[in-house]
Amino acid sequence: MKEIDLVKEGMRDEMKQFDERFMASLRSQNNLLNQVVAYMMQRRGKGLRPLLVLLTAKVFGPVTEQAYRSAVLIETFHTASLLHDDVVDKSDIRHGSLTVNTKWSADIAVLLGDFMLSKALDDALANRDYALLREASEVVTEMSEGEMLQKEKAILLDITEEEYFRIIRQKTAALLALCAKAGAESAGCPPETCARLQQFGYHLGMAFQIKDDLFDLALKPGEAETGKPRGNDLRERKITLPFIHALREAPSGERKAMLRLLEKGPQLTEEDVATVSAWVVRYGGIAYAEQKMQEFHQEADRILQKFADRPHISGLKRLLDFVVQRAY
Ligand code: IPE
Ligand code: IPE
Ligand code: MG
Ligand code: MG
Repeated sequence: MKEIDLVKEGMRDEMKQFDERFMASLRSQNNLLNQVVAYMMQRRGKGLRPLLVLLTAKVFGPVTEQAYRSAVLIETFHTASLLHDDVVDKSDIRHGSLTVNTKWSADIAVLLGDFMLSKALDDALANRDYALLREASEVVTEMSEGEMLQKEKAILLDITEEEYFRIIRQKTAALLALCAKAGAESAGCPPETCARLQQFGYHLGMAFQIKDDLFDLALKPGEAETGKPRGNDLRERKITLPFIHALREAPSGERKAMLRLLEKGPQLTEEDVATVSAWVVRYGGIAYAEQKMQEFHQEADRILQKFADRPHISGLKRLLDFVVQRAY
């Protein structure tokens, strides 16, 4: 059994409740909308975010209504962001199936993403979840800014390590930080504890996105187990951490040649992707990014150790380990 399934096994009842609520929340009067949602529901992701909310809630008390509402709100925002992200990245495969923008169209993917964003807002307002809504809106603003900064850097083909970390904090880690924080808040934890859990989620999220970026450069051809194409970041001219390090280490002639190759963008062939990946390996880019990922993992682990005596903490630890060990 895969590591994340082991974690889910310990949360079977809670995840079942989550699933029911998540599906019910997206029902609509519109046929086409229901059809696309049904397609997506049959090809779900890992459920990392709701799992993180509910596990954190369980560490600090029984899983409350508020915990479920937080999990649904966050997964809805996440799903909407992926719908839009696949349009932005012109990605045709996710979860091993055609993306909504490919199976239907970019218009429909954008409209469905908008529907999900506004549905989540509607439900939160109806439930008077004002505090959660304020925090989540801030995070969604950050996610948009992160994706925009990434675009800006892709156009310029120039990015520093510091800028890379800012992008992944904004587009990914901020939401995972909110998952852990919202879980703690739902259990009525004091602000210091919530802030610590937020830090835990932030470090987990940074490690998570570095791993995702490493998948894109994997030397194994094809989609591997991630269910999404390899080399997509390169085709979108996204310079991620392994590449940044290799650019720093390589002699200037090679650096220029690689940047020139990257300028091909969508025209990059499978062979080009393999060439770039091998070059990144040669200059220690993969090893460097893996080391940074381990540092974020260690810091998250250090925060967890402060709560070592709590029952159910092992679930959070397993989830954290999954983030760096996963193959998908
Ligand atoms: C994909 O997130 C977007 C990133 C932040 C890398 P996930 O890999 O958690 O996506 P799903 O939910 O499993 O589809
Ligand atoms: C994460 O970045 C996207 C969001 C946080 C919306 P990626 O573009 O790397 O995600 P994938 O690889 O498409 O899942
Ligand atoms: Mg993408
Ligand atoms: Mg990616």
